[in-house]
Amino acid sequence: MIIAVDGPTASGKGTIAKALATRFGLPHLDTGLLYRAVGRQVAMKGGNPDDAETALAATAFPDSLLEDPALRNEETGGFASRASVHPAVREALFDRQRAFATRPGGAVLDGRDIGTVIAPDATVKLFVTASVEARARRRHAEMRERGIVVTLQEIEKDIARRDVRDMERADSPLKPAPDAYILDTTAFGRDQAIEAAIEVVQEIAAKQ
Ligand code: DC
Repeated sequence: MIIAVDGPTASGKGTIAKALATRFGLPHLDTGLLYRAVGRQVAMKGGNPDDAETALAATAFPDSLLEDPALRNEETGGFASRASVHPAVREALFDRQRAFATRPGGAVLDGRDIGTVIAPDATVKLFVTASVEARARRRHAEMRERGIVVTLQEIEKDIARRDVRDMERADSPLKPAPDAYILDTTAFGRDQAIEAAIEVVQEIAAKQ
């Protein structure tokens, strides 16, 4: 069984994908980390992620970079989002993601284009979303826990900006696959969102 979990930034798709992987005993790939590694590689070299050649060269990042804690910060997220608009970057990361998706026992992948491009053949496609306000509140709480001081308004602005870039890029924009189940978690807490996702997967898998 291939489970594709797509959605905008801070929607909770990563948490949901991880929980589904545990529940159904499948390996999990957070594809955003690959784009973040590209963004981080560009930043470390002092390059510009808007330049296609610079971003493409950064796709040859060493695997050890995937363990870098700086991959999680907002600056890297912004660089990743900018680097991810280049078709050559997306193509360079395709094989690695496709190989993971087609593992013999199945897999869970989360990202922006899993149900549309990487695994259009996925058994279950979830598109996890929530309002900008709800996502900003969650991200704000998360950052406060990590001791990062930033206002809710700044986070809201950053999330809205990232949404526009991810949804309006020409190549593989963030959008639900026609056969995706839309899971709006605006009114849900973490556990409720996970429960709802598990139910959807069970229902769809039972019909296969
Ligand atoms: O999910 P995330 O915030 O870790 O992703 C960081 C950026 O990477 C995101 O803004 C867009 C890009 N990305 C993408 O274009 N396609 C994916 N499958 C995953 C992430």
